[in-house]
Amino acid sequence: MKALVCHSYGTSENLVLENVNDLAPDKGQVLVEVFAASLNFPDTLQIQGKYQFQPPMPFTPGSEVGGIVRALGPGVSEFQVGDRVMATPSIGGMAEQVVVATSGVRKIPDNMDFKTAAGFAMVYTTSYHALKQRANIKPGETLLVLGASGGVGMAAVELGKMMGARVIAAASSDEKLDFVRQADPDELLNYGDGELKEKVKALTDDKGADVIYDPVGGNLFDQATRCINWNGRILVVGFTSGRIPEYKANLALLKGASMVGVFLGRFRKEEPVEYEKNFAELLEFYRQGKLKPIITQTFAMEEYVAAFNVFSERRVMGKVVLQIRQE
Ligand SMILES: NC(=O)c1ccc[n+]([C@@H]2O[C@H](COP(=O)([O-])OP(=O)(O)OC[C@H]3O[C@@H](n4cnc5c(N)ncnc54)[C@H](OP(=O)(O)O)[C@@H]3O)[C@@H](O)[C@H]2O)c1
Repeated sequence: MKALVCHSYGTSENLVLENVNDLAPDKGQVLVEVFAASLNFPDTLQIQGKYQFQPPMPFTPGSEVGGIVRALGPGVSEFQVGDRVMATPSIGGMAEQVVVATSGVRKIPDNMDFKTAAGFAMVYTTSYHALKQRANIKPGETLLVLGASGGVGMAAVELGKMMGARVIAAASSDEKLDFVRQADPDELLNYGDGELKEKVKALTDDKGADVIYDPVGGNLFDQATRCINWNGRILVVGFTSGRIPEYKANLALLKGASMVGVFLGRFRKEEPVEYEKNFAELLEFYRQGKLKPIITQTFAMEEYVAAFNVFSERRVMGKVVLQIRQE
C-alpha cells in the first residue's frame, strides 16, 4: 500500500510517498481502508519534531481518517467488515490503510461522506469540550473566538452559536472572515493590524467578552486578558502564533477572571464517560443538521506538500483533507 512517510524531521518536502507493507490488525484493532485523511496543525509540528508527542522514526503522520473497515483483529465484535467509519489513530492516517484500536473508531451517519468524517473528530470534540466542560458557557454570554477560520476555531464558532452565545468571530483577514460568515457569527472582527483589545471593547459596551477561545497565543492572548468581562474565562487551546504567553495575575484579580486549560487527550483519559457522551452528542447534532462541517481544501495524496503548506503559510479556512481514494 502507499503511505506518506517521515524519515527525517523537516518541512513537508522531506516526506516521502512510498510503497510499504500491507497492515494486519492486532487484538482489539480494526484495519481501515482510508478514503480521506485530514490535516491538523499538530501534524505540521510533528513532522518537524516539535510536537509534545513524537513517534519513533520512521512514521506516517495523520491522526484522523474516514474510510471502511476491511478486517477485524482478534476479539473485535463491535464492528463488521464493510462498516463506514471515522477513526482517530494517533499516527499513520496518511496512508491507504491504517490499523486503529476500536476505542478510536466510530460508525458514521449515512449522510456523512468520508472527507467530512476525516475532519470531524478533532475539531468538534476539542471545541465542544472547551465550551461545555471548561468554560461552562451560558446562553447569552459573549464568546470571542480567535483564529476563527481555522479548524478548531470554526468549530468553536458553530458550537458557540448552537449553545446560545453571542459570538464574535475574529481572524487576521477579511477573506477569512468572509469564510467564517458561513457559521453565522453575530460579529466579525479583523485583527490583521495587530489590534484586538479596543475592537472587542467596542463590540461589548466596554465590558469585554465573557469567554475567549484562544488557539493562537502570543500577542493576541496578551490583549485578550485585557478585554475580558468580569467572571470571564480565557480558554488556552493552542499556540499557533509560536509564542506561549504568560498570564498576569493582577489581571485575573481585577477581572475576577480565570485562565482555563483545554487538553482533549487528557480529558479523554481522565473522563472517558464524559468524552464519549460529548462525542455521541456531536454526532447526533450532525445527524440533525445542526452542524455543517466545511471542507474547503482537498488535495490528492500526491499533493501533500501543497496541503501542508496551507498550514505553514497561515492559509487555513475550515478543514484541509487529503483524498486518498475516491468514494
Ligand atoms: N488543546 C487541545 O486539546 C487541542 C486540540 C486540537 C488542536 N489544538 C491546537 O489548536 C491550535 C489550532 O489547531 P488547528 O488544527 O485548528 O489549526 P489551524 O486550522 O491552522 O488554525 C489555526 C489558526 O491560528 C491562526 N494563526 C495565528 N498565527 C498563526 C501562525 N503564525 N501560523 C498559523 N496559524 C496562525 C490562524 O488564524 P488567523 O490567521 O486568522 O490568525 C489559523 O486559522 C493548534 O495549536 C493545535 O495544536 C489543541
